[in-house]
Amino acid sequence: MDIVLSGIRSTGNLHLGNYYGALRNFIRMQDENQCYFFVADVHSLTTHPDPRYLHENVKNVLVNYLAAGIDPEKSVIYVQSDVRETFELYLFLNMHAYMGELAKTTSFKEKARKQPENVNAGLLTYPTLMAADILVHNADKVPVGKDQEQHLEMTRRFARRFNNFYGVEFFKEPVAYNFGQELIKIPGLDGSGKMGKSEGNAIYLADSPKEIEKKVKKALTDSGPTEFNSPKPEYIENLFTILRVVSAPEVVQHFEDLWNRCEIKYGDLKKQLAEDIIKVTAPIRERIIEIENDESYLRKVTTEGAEKARESASKTIRQVREIMGFKPF
Ligand code: TYM
Repeated sequence: MDIVLSGIRSTGNLHLGNYYGALRNFIRMQDENQCYFFVADVHSLTTHPDPRYLHENVKNVLVNYLAAGIDPEKSVIYVQSDVRETFELYLFLNMHAYMGELAKTTSFKEKARKQPENVNAGLLTYPTLMAADILVHNADKVPVGKDQEQHLEMTRRFARRFNNFYGVEFFKEPVAYNFGQELIKIPGLDGSGKMGKSEGNAIYLADSPKEIEKKVKKALTDSGPTEFNSPKPEYIENLFTILRVVSAPEVVQHFEDLWNRCEIKYGDLKKQLAEDIIKVTAPIRERIIEIENDESYLRKVTTEGAEKARESASKTIRQVREIMGFKPF
């Protein structure tokens, strides 16, 4: 039985990128694995969120997670800030993480460029906190999207370094995971880059069918191909990428054929795309509405989740302390 761990930052509702990158496959793994999923609220502090909205954002991720099919009877669901052992491990790992390697991380360079007025130490040590999340449960597999690949590589490096330094075989080297497939990147609908909350190009699991239709309708297209079998421009390829994850293979093939014969009508493609996205999101949205006001259920889930997560995390920390030479008097 593998230990599987998935985390999502508490920056609001989940979008299709989160769902296909980190959640969908995870849901399928709950029966055969020990799965942990958590809301990364401490990670969201690197951008100094307003305290008035922090809790609401944690709640959104939690509700989305549950609505998407995480079963608290089978998996451990918790909020990162409830498991303080993580922060102890984070501190220990930071003693073996080097300025140079942290500053070279793509996500750090990107964030430092985006928020030059707030390049804080938390931003720099983001990968060690993420490694602590993973190593505190000694996870084997971490379902993530393509953008987190480098962080997983660093986690493995930190694990190996700890083991080598102390001459132990304690931490496992966890792998980025997507059900035997390549890690994926769900693109945005605006023609460039990945779908993301801060990019303002996302379709959320909580969006109504009307909102989804509107967003898909607005997606960037052009006047269509003029040569048979021509390559697709990025913004059209992006629509096909989303179609490939939400639609049946024969539907994708149908539109591929139309494209190749220069007969594609973008209106039809968008209609199909919106319809198939709604098929995926509608049941999740229904469930979101059902549980979002059930405070006692959410309290029960997070209390029990924190307890179970702390049980596993404190076992790790006890051993880590021993390995590092801390001894009680
Ligand atoms: P975050 O909150 O940015 O995203 C959560 C998960 O969703 C995936 N994802 C995507 N996958 C495919 N296409 C997209 N457009 C897309 N957008 C987001 C991300 O790859 C991620 O798997 N650092 C993490 C949170 C985290 C974590 C962890 C994850 C903290 N500790 C430990 C795993 C294990 C983050 O910022 O993800």
